[in-house]
Amino acid sequence: MSTDTILRVSNIESYYGPIMAIRGVSLAIERGSIVTVLGANGAGKTTILKTISGVLDPQKGTVEFEGRQIQRVDADRIVRLGLSHVPEGREVFPFLSVRENLAMGAFLRHDKDGVAQDLERVFGYFPRLRERIDQPAGSLSGGEQQMLAISRALMNRPKLLLLDEPSLGLSPLLVKEIFAIIRRVNAEQGVSILLVEQNARMALETAHYGYVLEVGRVVMDDTCERLMHSKDIQEFYLGAKEESARGERRWKRKKTWR
Ligand SMILES: Nc1ncnc2c1ncn2[C@@H]1O[C@H](COP(=O)(O)OP(=O)(O)OP(=O)(O)O)[C@@H](O)[C@H]1O
Ligand SMILES: [Mg+2]
Repeated sequence: MSTDTILRVSNIESYYGPIMAIRGVSLAIERGSIVTVLGANGAGKTTILKTISGVLDPQKGTVEFEGRQIQRVDADRIVRLGLSHVPEGREVFPFLSVRENLAMGAFLRHDKDGVAQDLERVFGYFPRLRERIDQPAGSLSGGEQQMLAISRALMNRPKLLLLDEPSLGLSPLLVKEIFAIIRRVNAEQGVSILLVEQNARMALETAHYGYVLEVGRVVMDDTCERLMHSKDIQEFYLGAKEESARGERRWKRKKTWR
């Protein structure tokens, strides 16, 4: 059994004011693996990522990154430790160019050659970003902005990458493209990845291990291979009918929120 756990979350509880969004969640990521957290709207997926990356402090529980407790460490220090978070809704700096956005991702680094190498690498993953290098990020399509958000995180040369719904709002073709890159980043660079998704099918095909979250609690966890064959997962997360119904609810909710 492997013992190299890069991230261990133990019994975290996180609140928004009086509302408990995460109710005692535990999960672990083996170094070099892709782990996914599946769950419907409001299950608490984003809250888990925010709690790990230091955007939100948990009221209870611990977050250990490479054996070190980080649940009270500031978000910018956590980035320095090698943990990058691509937030939901791909927040790029709209008025900065593609080049400047990527430079922001590397601003903690002093190894010029390494940065240049990584720039080439992300352009290898996403050639469209090279073509648009001097354009303001706000002028890119949604898919290109997602590519930029992931690339900016990679420019920090992270050991662990947190991805919040990279497929959100993208065409099926682009979703395939983004997930292929996620697999390559993991396989070629050995980056460990925590992937939060409503697109259960893509997530289960991409990740090695998965957790299913319902109303702030983990209700099931297993290898993705086994989750894919589970009756409950097939019925509630992989059924075409269910998938589109959730998509519609989600769209309605987002519309009122933004
Ligand atoms: N800023 C906030 N203030 C108050 N409540 C919030 C806030 N953000 C999230 N919540 C609530 O916390 C719970 C978990 O939300 P979270 O955003 O983590 O879910 P999610 O699984 O990421 O959902 P989605 O799939 O829609 O992104 C929900 O009940 C949500 O309404
Ligand atoms: Mg979310």
